[in-house]
This record gives sequence, structure tokens and C-alpha cells, in this order.
Amino acid sequence: MLLDDKKVLVTGGSRGIGRSLCRVFAREGADVAFCYASNEEAARETERLIEDEDRAALARQADVGDREAARGLVETVTDEFGRIDVLVLNAGINRGSLFLRMPDEDWDDIMRVNVGGLYNVGKPVFQQMTRQRDGAILGITSISGIRSVPAGVPYATSKAAMIGFIKAIAREGGTVGLRANALAVGVVETDLASTIPERFLERYRDWCAQGRLGQPDETAELAAFLASERNSYMTGEVIVQDGGVVV
Ligand SMILES: NC(=O)c1ccc[n+]([C@@H]2O[C@H](COP(=O)([O-])OP(=O)(O)OC[C@H]3O[C@@H](n4cnc5c(N)ncnc54)[C@H](OP(=O)(O)O)[C@@H]3O)[C@@H](O)[C@H]2O)c1
Repeated sequence: MLLDDKKVLVTGGSRGIGRSLCRVFAREGADVAFCYASNEEAARETERLIEDEDRAALARQADVGDREAARGLVETVTDEFGRIDVLVLNAGINRGSLFLRMPDEDWDDIMRVNVGGLYNVGKPVFQQMTRQRDGAILGITSISGIRSVPAGVPYATSKAAMIGFIKAIAREGGTVGLRANALAVGVVETDLASTIPERFLERYRDWCAQGRLGQPDETAELAAFLASERNSYMTGEVIVQDGGVVV
């Protein structure tokens, strides 16, 4: 298995891509901890999916935009699991508004969660992995952080920020056994994707060689390999998974 006996932390594991990450990583042999914002019922379901794979599950409500909550989360996972081998920075939010008319709160909320969360969770995990002299960090980013596609301005900004974050920590952590990569996905059918206006989704299908949206499990399958030790000589990279979008 790709992640035999690994200890994994996934942010935003209650729904969407995060839930698939939790299930697939557990199937590949990992014990999986995850956090969520507020959806307790969905979190219980993810927990059940991990346990169905005969692996330990640890679910915690923790807002990644809240520094104290994020530090508490990392502390709990380290205490319970003894170490953190893999961190997937997945939690993220989007808003559908046009830049022209966007309320200030949309910018602030997206920056707080999507960018603040990188620091709030990423730093204590980076410190833990440095102590371990081993670890892999994977960021779930978007093609909107790389290309000019129809996307919310703060969202695209935050996803480009994740790429900078991953590249810089890959450099700083490289000599102490850390790897950090980003997986830039196109449109994946989740609740978050439902914030994208239908006319954009139609255009996306036209641009996409495979003519369809992605499924969360497809992203999780690739993520499991990218985070695994079989992917030992890749760091600071951005891998695109978008069904072949040509814009
Ligand atoms: N779907 C796409 O088309 C797409 C494309 C490119 C990149 N991505 C990226 O993939 C990641 C996951 O997206 P998704 O589509 O799976 O989203 P989703 O279906 O909306 O799920 C978001 C998950 O993140 C959690 N979350 C949200 N805010 C949080 C916070 N402040 N603290 C902790 N957890 C929080 C949610 O918890 P609750 O259930 O408690 O709300 C939920 O588990 C995001 O980073 C997104 O930018 C998605």
C-alpha cells in the first residue's frame, strides 16, 4: 500500500475532496486525522469511512483561519498519533461574487481561511516534521492560481499564494527530509464547485479534453501517490489535474 502505517492530517476532511482524501489514504494504510469547520454530521460520516478501512480516525472541529485552534489541532494529532508523516492542506472556501461588486468580507474571509490556514496549520506541522526529519506536505490548489480562467479574484489569489507557500517550504525543508508539492485541480464536483456560475461550468466542459468535471476520488487517488514515499524525488512542484483544459 502507498501509505502503510503513515499518520496523516487532512484539513477540511468532512466533505468534497477532503472526504475522498481521508477515505483513499485510509485504504492505502494510513491512520487519518482531519478537521472541519462546522459540519459535524458530515465529519461523522468521514470518520466512519476511515474506520471502514480498519484504520484509526480522528475528527476535530477546528477553523484553520484561527491560529490558536489550528495549533491546538496539530498538538492533539501529534499527541494522539505520535507523529505526522503527511499533511494535506485542503480546507478552502470560495465565493461566487464578481470582483467589481464583491463585498470586502469576501476578500477578508477567503484570505483568512485559504491563506491564513496555510500558516496556521503549516507552521506547527513543519516544525514537527523538522523534528522528525521526515514528512510530506501536499497543498490542494487550483488551476485558477496558475492560468487566467473564470474564477473569483480572491480565490485565485489565495490559490496562487498556496503555490508560493509550497515552493518556499520545499526549499527550506528539503535538506531536513521534507517534501512539499501542490496539486492544482480543475473543476471537481463538490459543494465548493456549486459556487461557480453554470455558464462558467459549460465553458469549462468545452475547454476540457475529457469534456467533464472531475470527481473527488480522482483527485484523492493522485494525491495518495504524490504524498507517498514512492514519490521520493519530487519537491516544490505543481502537478495539474484538470482533464486536459486548454484555454
Ligand atoms: N471543487 C473544486 O472544483 C476545486 C478546484 C480546485 C481546487 N479546489 C480546492 O480543493 C479544496 C477542497 O475543496 P472542495 O471542493 O472539496 O470544498 P468543499 O466541498 O466545500 O469542502 C470544504 C471542506 O473544507 C472544510 N472547511 C471549510 N472552511 C474551513 C475552515 N475555516 N476550517 C477548517 N475546515 C474548513 C469544510 O468543513 P465543513 O464541512 O465543516 O464546512 C469541508 O470539509 C479547497 O482548497 C479548494 O480550493 C477545489
